[in-house]
Amino acid sequence: MELLDAMLSRTSKRDFEDKPVPKETIEKILSASLRAPSWANSQPWEIAVSTGKTSEFIKSNLYELAKNCAPINPDYPFPDAWPEKQNNNIFETGKHRFEYIGIGREDAEKRREFTLSNYNFFNSRTAIFIYLEESLGAWSILDSGMLIQNILLSAHDSGLGACPQAYLVAYPDILRKAFDLPRNKRFILGISIGYYKTDSIINGVKTLRNDFDDIVKFYE
Ligand SMILES: Cc1cc2nc3c(=O)[nH]c(=O)nc-3n(C[C@H](O)[C@H](O)[C@H](O)COP(=O)(O)O)c2cc1C
Repeated sequence: MELLDAMLSRTSKRDFEDKPVPKETIEKILSASLRAPSWANSQPWEIAVSTGKTSEFIKSNLYELAKNCAPINPDYPFPDAWPEKQNNNIFETGKHRFEYIGIGREDAEKRREFTLSNYNFFNSRTAIFIYLEESLGAWSILDSGMLIQNILLSAHDSGLGACPQAYLVAYPDILRKAFDLPRNKRFILGISIGYYKTDSIINGVKTLRNDFDDIVKFYE
């Protein structure tokens, strides 16, 4: 796939086949992704790939906590509020997604069910978790974002679907337990990855973007 085609056609997938991805495929995606740039080639990131029993442990524990409305404690706090423009983008994206899949505003139960499916890796067997040592700062998070976008694009190029998920790092103590990591390892993001259901309506959602001219200014 051409790079620009991949960038233009990638979308987040949220409904996966219950089918394992070969380890070699994940290794190929991650080896290429690790060519991402970072501050002075510092390469701050660490990666845990969860499959098999480890995924079962993470999914069941996260799901149980979320279902019981346990307070979240992400290592990097989720934003409390957004400026108006971003708030509007978020609202419109959610509205579009739920309309597209036919879940009405009033259907709180179905919305909750959909949100909870985040913790089940949207039915995928595999998730990739990115974490940092706690003394690393904002620039290392930026570096990790570049790594994450590489992972999303190379997954797409390999015919797999992926969804970057803040929800997957909402209860990081479960992740530290699953991967036997100390408290000073801080989770940035989880990515569900796998074979996605091509006929699933949710996987057809194409999100909008703000107008190019509202974002980009040329100065000559
Ligand atoms: C940092 C970050 C956190 C995200 N967290 C979630 C999440 O928890 N659950 C989810 O379904 N999507 C999550 N997403 C996916 C975004 O909703 C998605 O990228 C956005 O709506 C644009 O859609 P697209 O990826 O299909 O282009 C996250 C994306 C990013 C970059």
